Amino acid sequence: MKFINHCLPLLSLMILGSCNVKKTELSSSLKNSYKNDFYIGTALSADQIEEKDAKVDSLICRQFNAITAENIMKSMFVHPQKDKYDFALTDKFVAFGEKNKMFIHGHTLIWHSQLAPWMEKIKDSTEMKAFMNDHITTIVSKYKGRINSWDVVNEALNDDGTLRKSVFLNTLGESYLADAFKLAAKADPKVDLYYNDYNLEDPAKREGAINLIKKIKAAGGKVDGIGSQGHWNLNSPSLEEIEKSILAYSALGVKVAFTELDITVLPNPWDLKGADVNQKFEGNPKMNPYPETLPDSIQNKLAQRYADIFKLFLKHKDKISRVTFWGVHDGQSWLNDWPIKGRTNYPLLFDTKLQPKKAYNSVMQLKEVKE
Ligand code: XIL
Repeated sequence: MKFINHCLPLLSLMILGSCNVKKTELSSSLKNSYKNDFYIGTALSADQIEEKDAKVDSLICRQFNAITAENIMKSMFVHPQKDKYDFALTDKFVAFGEKNKMFIHGHTLIWHSQLAPWMEKIKDSTEMKAFMNDHITTIVSKYKGRINSWDVVNEALNDDGTLRKSVFLNTLGESYLADAFKLAAKADPKVDLYYNDYNLEDPAKREGAINLIKKIKAAGGKVDGIGSQGHWNLNSPSLEEIEKSILAYSALGVKVAFTELDITVLPNPWDLKGADVNQKFEGNPKMNPYPETLPDSIQNKLAQRYADIFKLFLKHKDKISRVTFWGVHDGQSWLNDWPIKGRTNYPLLFDTKLQPKKAYNSVMQLKEVKE
């Protein structure tokens, strides 16, 4: 008997795969603590989609109930040549989400970055229209009813709120925005469609985003939500501006999601007056102050910042659909290589050894006290 009891968890693990649903439902986790508030998501790297590391895999399944692909759904990977799509990894990503009963978010359909080289060469409106039509229709239809929401357009705005002069704007003019949303809605009428961008808490960009959504809707596009990326730092944006943004976006009648949350603790070269943003910063120890460990004082600041942010999210949980972290653990974060290559950053709730940080505890503690 003793033997059987002892082996049961292992047995069920073998039957159900590494993401044992029953087991994860019982344990204390972000997704369980916040299950009545909003989805708690994470971005998955290609290796994580392929379940290469069992420990990381089990952390993902234990803690998160929503997933975004960090890279593999971007156009350069999924549509490398005009007449060739590569769905090998996107199929695995969607299957991973379905197997683990997760909310599956598609990132991203129309974005000026990480484009395939053939797309960058498109110069005229006929060719660009054909690209948009084929790209959006093919991908959204393929996963119709399986992907829950899409970033239809990513980063169409400049920081001053004007439209970015991207390849799309340059070839098609403003109408590409509403057209992208119309094409996506036609391919899957039920899927939630988002506009996604960074710095959406800055007043000028917020105004730009509000106008953008209004224009898309007025032109007949279906917009269900705004995704604020949430690549933030320890001091900014202020809680006041975050709150104003949640209220302003929600007043448009759309859902608000925080789609790529991480908080850098490292100095930002652009804050330095007169500094040249270039390779000179590489290897400069001043720009990489914590190569080994994060001092307690900063660990505490990070924990407090996350607590403040999640407290605000909880206050507005009726307006917020999802909060997704941009990565599972610090070791995976893109902020170790951006905007300066080869630094050691600490922006997430789990450290490189997959251990919960103080910031994790502070986010969990908010749910232990009665709201
Ligand atoms: C980043 C990825 O995390 C990196 O691995 C990649 O090299 C560059 O892109 N805004 C977005 C995301 O919408 O897709 C970006 O992801 C981060 C900024």
